[in-house]
Amino acid sequence: MTRSLDGKVAVVTGAASGIGAATARRLSGAGASVVLVDVDADGARQVAADVPGRSLAVPGDVSREEDVERYVRSAVEEFGRLDLHHLNAGITGPFTELPEMSVEDFDRVVGVNLRGPFLGVRAAFRQYAGQGGGGAIVITASIASLRGSHDLLPYQTTKHGVLGLMRGAAMYGGPLGVRVNAVAPGLVPTGLFAANQTATGGGDDMIRRGTTVPLRRTGSPDEIAAVVAFLLSDDASYVHGEVISVDGGSAIVSTVRPSGGAGAWDTAEVDRRVSFETEKQ
Ligand SMILES: NC(=O)c1ccc[n+]([C@@H]2O[C@H](COP(=O)([O-])OP(=O)(O)OC[C@H]3O[C@@H](n4cnc5c(N)ncnc54)[C@H](O)[C@@H]3O)[C@@H](O)[C@H]2O)c1
Repeated sequence: MTRSLDGKVAVVTGAASGIGAATARRLSGAGASVVLVDVDADGARQVAADVPGRSLAVPGDVSREEDVERYVRSAVEEFGRLDLHHLNAGITGPFTELPEMSVEDFDRVVGVNLRGPFLGVRAAFRQYAGQGGGGAIVITASIASLRGSHDLLPYQTTKHGVLGLMRGAAMYGGPLGVRVNAVAPGLVPTGLFAANQTATGGGDDMIRRGTTVPLRRTGSPDEIAAVVAFLLSDDASYVHGEVISVDGGSAIVSTVRPSGGAGAWDTAEVDRRVSFETEKQ
């Protein structure tokens, strides 16, 4: 790994686990001072202690305005500035079907996955303006930003939403020299899906589905982190307003051709579900 981020200050949210932890390690390995934000304070502290370079763990909930302002303030107090921001914290919300989805569950997912990145982008822009420029931002989107499915509806809604946020922020940031991009992971076994171990589309089932991805496997957090680190680095100096899929080819699959893999409709399964729902009524 080159020391291409020497002297840079990076904030990563959701850094206690999975993709965020892997990104914090990558950025630190490339020379950046890293601020690790997470509601899991112990987890953030542990990862912060493990990274090779200078680091600071800041407990915080990205859906809360005061927490987001506090983590940017802490970064500046500790390291003097902010250059790079990876807005990555996220939750899946429940696997509940649409008619049973509660407003509270919907709002909770919107709070973390959409208001969180908005607050983070806004705070970063305010800081960049105050310090006379910067910087780069990457938002963790998802294959759920690009494709439809009937489960995880609030998740899918917010992951589509962050692409609107990313593009709007990119239009605002371009003339200021602030690059804004998104990364769209496919199936990556992390805490997010392990927490839903027995759910269809969660834990074990996710591993099984991995065998239908064009590359025939799930991805690792570090494979996502590598692309985030690239987007935050000067190697990506002309990449702006872009969403890059890191999904083993999942997003290119045609669902209407027989060779369709991940995402191809298993119509027998859909029909079984529909007849089950109809019988219930
Ligand atoms: N794992 C996948 O397959 C996958 C696929 C596409 C997108 N993503 C996205 O990647 C991102 C990281 O997820 P992951 O897979 O590494 O999961 P993860 O559960 O391992 O990590 C998510 C981290 O976010 C933290 N977090 C949750 N709510 C928070 C809040 N309100 N404030 C601060 N921190 C909070 C958690 O404590 C956790 O440490 C998420 O945005 C997720 O939607 C993951």
